[in-house]
Amino acid sequence: MEHELHDKLDELMRGPYPLYARAQAAEGLLRVPELDAWLVARDADVREVLRRPLEFSSANALRPDVLPSPAALEVLAGGFGGRPVVVTSDGERHQRLRAPLVRALSPARVAAAAPYARERAAALVDGFAEDGRVELMSAYAMRLPGDVIGRIVGLDPADVPLVVHGGHRAEQLLFRPLPEAEQIAAAEDVVAMQHVLDRCARDRYVRPREDLATEIVASVAEPGQGELPPDGRHEAVAHLQNLLIAGHLTTTALIGTTVLHLLSHRDQWELLRERPDLIPAAVEEAARYDGALQGFRRVTTRPVALAGTELPAGAELFVAFGAANRDALRHPRPDTFDITRDAPARHLAFGFGAHACVGAQLAREQLRITVEELTRRLPGLRLAEGHPVTMRPTMIHRSPEELHLTWPVAQGRYTLPGTALPGASSCGTVTNT
Ligand code: HEM
Repeated sequence: MEHELHDKLDELMRGPYPLYARAQAAEGLLRVPELDAWLVARDADVREVLRRPLEFSSANALRPDVLPSPAALEVLAGGFGGRPVVVTSDGERHQRLRAPLVRALSPARVAAAAPYARERAAALVDGFAEDGRVELMSAYAMRLPGDVIGRIVGLDPADVPLVVHGGHRAEQLLFRPLPEAEQIAAAEDVVAMQHVLDRCARDRYVRPREDLATEIVASVAEPGQGELPPDGRHEAVAHLQNLLIAGHLTTTALIGTTVLHLLSHRDQWELLRERPDLIPAAVEEAARYDGALQGFRRVTTRPVALAGTELPAGAELFVAFGAANRDALRHPRPDTFDITRDAPARHLAFGFGAHACVGAQLAREQLRITVEELTRRLPGLRLAEGHPVTMRPTMIHRSPEELHLTWPVAQGRYTLPGTALPGASSCGTVTNT
């Protein structure tokens, strides 16, 4: 029974758009047993929830889909955290946790980080440009965002791979059904990440620097003599872990879907090659059309009516940014991917209101850099034949599982049969998008 529910949930997560269309056509809200929540799918309803944070609390925003086994929980008990973080807090506490992030990710600070992001993007592309083929998720998309946010936070670059890995393992542990041994291994990786973050937090408490880790530590513990107190250590690690996961997994996912959709719509890829000025619009359209964060939860704090549905206090909602972005009342031809839309309407891929994404500017910058780099350096890029694309079963980091790409390279180097000539036709198959 539980397996059946998980299979159904996987199917829904790999291709949620038919469900969204059904929810938008329904009267009132649709109750979705697989999500164990009311689905909020219309643009106007999603905005209404986000405008009323006092009635629609974020306390359950990150509610896991899976409860780890007792043995995995025991491993996690040896780590840090377990405190409400910015995305799961309301009211004053939320504002206290959000303030240093808004400062540290301001447009000016993002602009200052851009040269480093550009340099890393170029170096990653250098690593495979001569090969004629790559699996983009592992060689690029999973690497750039971690390097960039790691730098802004102030992590030692040598620690970044372990921290990025720990973030992916935290997601698996809390959102995928894993066998017990795997759960324990994932919990160990999460705890290893937390110890690195704790080391960083304790260091910044006694040796402040010009970085985001220092600002986070200062926001959770008054400066004092000696060591960062235990409570401050837990808070700082929870906060850092949440920020890092919010910062890299989402951006990784959107890099994957953006490249996927541009290459699946060849005319639009070719257009971008001729008109790089359209790259910012292409990034916005990719975020609207198939966003990384499809939705987060909310819980009602008192009885409230939404879209004509009466909800009691404690009702769980799944607020689907990804569905709102396909609402025809807001976006004409919502199911068409079109980077040349006239006066595109504002989408909700980065949320809205009190909890709107603090890293949107940083994410957009990395997306623009990526598309610039790939269209300029690998103009003949294509989806590789024989590698049908499957989307990951997740509502919070929607992306291709793998993205195999090919392009022509100079003679003597690797070329895939039939794809050596620029303009040769080869397109992988996309399923469940
Ligand atoms: C493509 C990449 C990204 C997407 C699609 C995305 C999407 C979102 C969305 C939809 C929300 C609102 C959640 C809600 O209302 O409950 C959000 C919040 C947040 N995002 Fe992002 N995000 C991205 C990148 C980033 C980056 C790069 C960072 C940090 C460097 C970041 C940090 C955060 C944080 C801390 C919050 C919580 C804000 C709050 O609760 O006040 N995100 N993000």
